[in-house]
Amino acid sequence: TGYVTYDPGFMNTAQCESKITFIDGNEGVLLYRGYPIDQLAKNSSFLEVAYLLIHGELPTESERDGFIERVNRHTLVHEDFRTFMGTFPRTSHPMAVMSSAVSALATFYPESLDPFDEDTVELATVLLLAKARTITSYLHRRRVGEPLLYPDYSRGYVEDFLRMTFAVPYEQYDANPILVEALDKLLILHADHEQNCSASVVRITGSAHANLYASVSAGISALSGPLHGGANEAVLKMLTAIRDSDDDVKTFIKRVKAKEEGVRLMGFGHRVYKNYDPRAAIVKGRAHAVLSTLGIDDPLLEIAMELEEIALSDDYFAERRLYPNVDFYTGIIYKAMGFEPAMFTPLFALGRMPGWIAQWREMMRDPKSKIGRPRQIYTGATTRDYVDIGER
Ligand code: CMC
Repeated sequence: TGYVTYDPGFMNTAQCESKITFIDGNEGVLLYRGYPIDQLAKNSSFLEVAYLLIHGELPTESERDGFIERVNRHTLVHEDFRTFMGTFPRTSHPMAVMSSAVSALATFYPESLDPFDEDTVELATVLLLAKARTITSYLHRRRVGEPLLYPDYSRGYVEDFLRMTFAVPYEQYDANPILVEALDKLLILHADHEQNCSASVVRITGSAHANLYASVSAGISALSGPLHGGANEAVLKMLTAIRDSDDDVKTFIKRVKAKEEGVRLMGFGHRVYKNYDPRAAIVKGRAHAVLSTLGIDDPLLEIAMELEEIALSDDYFAERRLYPNVDFYTGIIYKAMGFEPAMFTPLFALGRMPGWIAQWREMMRDPKSKIGRPRQIYTGATTRDYVDIGER
């Protein structure tokens, strides 16, 4: 079987060549298809960025409008699909429901499963982006016991998402444009991040020629973990626990440094960024803007800023090059928008859809792709004879 490289956590293993996203972790640089993240966050919109990631180029006006129109047209879900989502206990974690719902799309749209037919893959792409928005809004509605709202095709992707999530049926609802803009930017910032844990899972699942929904559903499951997307929810829990405890911020940092069991500074550190995560800087600015626009004075933002300030001037964090990552400030914004913490990671997943789709499509088209099948270093027992139950 030849020579095997041992690389736990794939710290030094490239599993593919990719043209989608570039990260320079030392310099804090993030590019989608060559475009700097801050330029995209400033000038673009989520569906335009989705098009860019998936198709490789910024769309012309007619390409963009056609894409938006196709996504809009598919936002309604089948009534049986709504019923299916309604069968999960109301208290279920929405990430578990979300991965099940995305996996179930394969049963409702069997005509969109062929991974090698270009038109079919484009259909699955549009269906997934469209249904993901409806699924995410319904995750929230189910938790609060409110009915699914049907999409309004005349509104933008993010604007209508907020309406479907928060509107009361039959009442006029217009989302605050500041919130629409902030959420649009947050989705852009989450749209791809090269070979992170969930993207790798999507690729490996797809490498067995599993369909797009199955592959993305696997990615959603990976994202639910607190070391990955689940960190945004974990950050808010951490900030709330600090607020409600007798400990001050300095004491909490001491506990982190002492490596007390289960105590980490959530929202800090990254496998690739050894510098300020460029997304975190943009999110931090937005958090201030959104809270001040809404007139919200959230003590959690103060705690977060104090944690950041202390951590950034502390040797423990400096030596390990730990900086705030994208998840550090997002929860504060989502909370101000009216989302409860369990919804934070589904929002990350909604934003990450274009990235997962782009990674899956690139892999499917790459003639060098092979089924993902790592090796192992076996450390178990050598051959031994079966022992009868009475003799063990
Ligand atoms: N708080 C305290 N210490 C930390 C932290 C942290 N958040 N992150 C890393 N360290 C320490 C770690 O204990 C280790 O110290 P030592 O060398 O003394 O053993 C050192 O820094 C290196 O850490 P690591 O765990 O080997 O690094 P990794 O590349 O395997 O892990 C990480 C990266 C993101 C999982 C980790 O930094 C972490 O758990 N962060 C908190 C969770 C989090 O915010 N995750 C979101 C990641 S970004 C977006 C996303 O993927 O969702």
